[in-house]
Amino acid sequence: MPVDLAGPIFALYEKALARAKAQQQKGNMFEAAAAYRQCADHLTQYAGYTTDPRARAQWLEKAKGFRELAEHITTKGPPIKAAENGGDANQYDDEVAALIFKSPVSWIDIGGLAETKNEIKTAYGLSMVHPPKGIKLRGWRNLLFYGPPGTGKTLLAAATSNGLEATFFNVKVSNLLSKYFGESTKLVSALYAAARRMAPSVVFLDEIESLVGQRGGTESGAELRVVSTFLAELDGLTGKADENYIMTIGATNIPWMIDKAILSRFEKKIYVPLPDIRARESIFKIHLASKGYKVEIAFPELAKRSEGYSGREIEHLATEAVKHMVEEVNPQLVNLVDQGRAALEKYELRIRPLNQNDFDKAFARIKPQATQSDLARYQEWRDATE
Ligand SMILES: Nc1ncnc2c1ncn2[C@@H]1O[C@H](COP(=O)(O)OP(=O)(O)OP(=O)(O)O)[C@@H](O)[C@H]1O
Ligand SMILES: [Mg+2]
Repeated sequence: MPVDLAGPIFALYEKALARAKAQQQKGNMFEAAAAYRQCADHLTQYAGYTTDPRARAQWLEKAKGFRELAEHITTKGPPIKAAENGGDANQYDDEVAALIFKSPVSWIDIGGLAETKNEIKTAYGLSMVHPPKGIKLRGWRNLLFYGPPGTGKTLLAAATSNGLEATFFNVKVSNLLSKYFGESTKLVSALYAAARRMAPSVVFLDEIESLVGQRGGTESGAELRVVSTFLAELDGLTGKADENYIMTIGATNIPWMIDKAILSRFEKKIYVPLPDIRARESIFKIHLASKGYKVEIAFPELAKRSEGYSGREIEHLATEAVKHMVEEVNPQLVNLVDQGRAALEKYELRIRPLNQNDFDKAFARIKPQATQSDLARYQEWRDATE
């Protein structure tokens, strides 16, 4: 019997990944790329030891992702060190590099939202095609996603970025403002300079309502400067915006709190609603069937029962049902934990198809959070802005 090296190989992969991330954080992109390539090699080997064909395919896919990332880093050069902005922005290389994010999410991982996906693709498509001679067309570059929590806004932004084979800059605006207080303006310039260099890029500005310019008049000069820097970037006025495609995606749960000047820069505002019945069915499938679980209850039944739940809450329902099933058929698990890691590693987890009782328990525990009045508020805002 061949020796099973899966464990040690996986450990090598984890070490290589930690190394890659550390190098990337430091802005040492070539070292990072080399380590990502090692990650890919280890994962490919690891996949060879995986007996479940679905899992094997997933590992191989992940390995491919690492190879692409390494390729991206090396072909586009050490991304920020040579920022076109010259000396000043380079001071923020590390901070900006830390915002670059490679997510494996693709369109098929997102249930429902077909119309939303099409709007995004149209926005991008219009920006890239050649209009007939004499016709000036400026596609949308700035999209705003708004809607209740957990409806897939972040997922959509990541899938957009992957779909466009773009570099994804994941920015939580409140972090940017608090962590780099006073320095945020320079960081924003460095961010967009890097995005231009690594174009096509998607700059995702989460919690964009934290960016406040003229509300109440209590803002400091520094805050006002950050806002005006963003405004200039959103207008695409800085540098060769037309050659280097950057899509900025803002996201918020409270669109009515967004600064008016910022809001007006988003040419396209896209409502990301709670999932309808068909979307709920596909979200259940994504989080159960696609992960290998058998379900005794028909998916349309689950979709009907989960009216008012967000995608995130449906994911929680799925996790909760699985947890209930696992606990029920593996009562010895708690004892095993007490016996230590060796005992756990030898134990093969039992599973069975998910049944009515598992879901009853999950539905009892997880309740939808969005209220009718919350939803009405989005509708009102939508009517007022569109
Ligand atoms: N349409 C969907 N299809 C599949 N999974 C979904 C969907 N919507 C949400 N989820 C699940 O919920 C999780 C949270 O989604 P996501 O982070 O995109 O929500 P969000 O709209 O950005 O929320 P927030 O406003 O709180 O930031 C996802 O990681 C995913 O597991
Ligand atoms: Mg989000």
